[in-house]
Amino acid sequence: MTFTPPEHIPKQPVFDLLALTGSSKGSPSPPSLRDAPYQCPVNRGSLAIALALRHIGLSGRKEVLVPAYHCGAMIEPILAEGGIPIFYRIRADTTVDLEDMARRRTPATRVVLVPHFFGFLQPLQAVRAWCDAHDLILIEDCAHAFFGETEGCPVGTQGDYAIGSTWKFFPLNEGGCLVSFRHPLNTIKTRAPSLSEELKAVVNTLEYASTYGRLGSFNALFKKYFFTSRTGWSNASGQNRLPSLRPTNLETLRLRKISFPPPFHSGFDPKRTTLSGSLWARWVTEKIFPFLHRRKKDGKNYQTLLEASVNLPGCHPLFPHLPEGIVPHVFPLVMDQPLAVFGKLKFAGVPIIRFGEFLWDKMEKGTCPISEDYSRRIFSIPLPPKPAKNMN
Ligand SMILES: Cc1ncc(COP(=O)(O)O)c(C=O)c1O
Repeated sequence: MTFTPPEHIPKQPVFDLLALTGSSKGSPSPPSLRDAPYQCPVNRGSLAIALALRHIGLSGRKEVLVPAYHCGAMIEPILAEGGIPIFYRIRADTTVDLEDMARRRTPATRVVLVPHFFGFLQPLQAVRAWCDAHDLILIEDCAHAFFGETEGCPVGTQGDYAIGSTWKFFPLNEGGCLVSFRHPLNTIKTRAPSLSEELKAVVNTLEYASTYGRLGSFNALFKKYFFTSRTGWSNASGQNRLPSLRPTNLETLRLRKISFPPPFHSGFDPKRTTLSGSLWARWVTEKIFPFLHRRKKDGKNYQTLLEASVNLPGCHPLFPHLPEGIVPHVFPLVMDQPLAVFGKLKFAGVPIIRFGEFLWDKMEKGTCPISEDYSRRIFSIPLPPKPAKNMN
């Protein structure tokens, strides 16, 4: 049995009734993936990667260049769509090592996947030009970067496609998007979620919000009704958390002879590739978007953590400056001795996100020493828009 200490700060945005009544005056939203003319809402970012690869068509040239610093949610969709991941190096500032990428290109290379790690947009003009020169498709992985711009380029505009992970930025339990500033996506056919999936999307969001006391006078009512009733949504172990929509269908992958050791498996389920985003996710994104002045709020939270950590022994911030136009997803800290402090932080209730903690075991050791180092040593602290209260 494992014990997970309660986290005093939520890891992801929490739905808040007040957000729906706020004012959007005086603070224009930064550029975002919502500005793309072509939009396809989906259930998760990993599914958007799969959908993009399906739209491109990987017949013949199947190699996809991906960073050696990655998570399962980036690799599983490639394998599920019949692609072959080829790993390229990143530099210490997490930007693409273009020389290394060029060395790894073969006649079978078709696609390049470039993430904006932790929300810090990397300049992509050189990668874009290189892709054009070699007839390669660029997928901009914006799972950590729904908002922002760098060097005059708004997020998502350099890729042929951009994928987003809406649930990381909006108070949702699920949600992603495939967008494009360059290619129409209207030939992509998606299917609507069932009524029960729609309802679960609503209930899971509200349940998470009530855990952090964000539903005002509805908190008690929600807890009483949903936590104590034996509805069809109660989970088998009797825990009050409703079954998550996070897909866990390992069986489908096994049938396709794709296997992952459990820690690497992200929950990606190829059966959901064409599942469109729920109406609830679309509504919340639409409704909350004007009030989500993340640039201002997250920038302030980022600066607070920066000041708090700058002279702290045993760690240093990965990005000691927050450039203009960047809307960070988290605050990444490079730890000197990760194993020695992980347990202590966890038991102190500090929420830690560990991107790339498990690298694909088939990637050759030594492919990218920086990625291997970051995989072990980077702990990311979430940047919640509001401190938690009334946590139970
Ligand atoms: C860089 C990156 N790309 C893609 C994904 C997939 O996003 P999702 O969790 O919405 O499937 C993740 C997930 O964390 C990610 O970190």
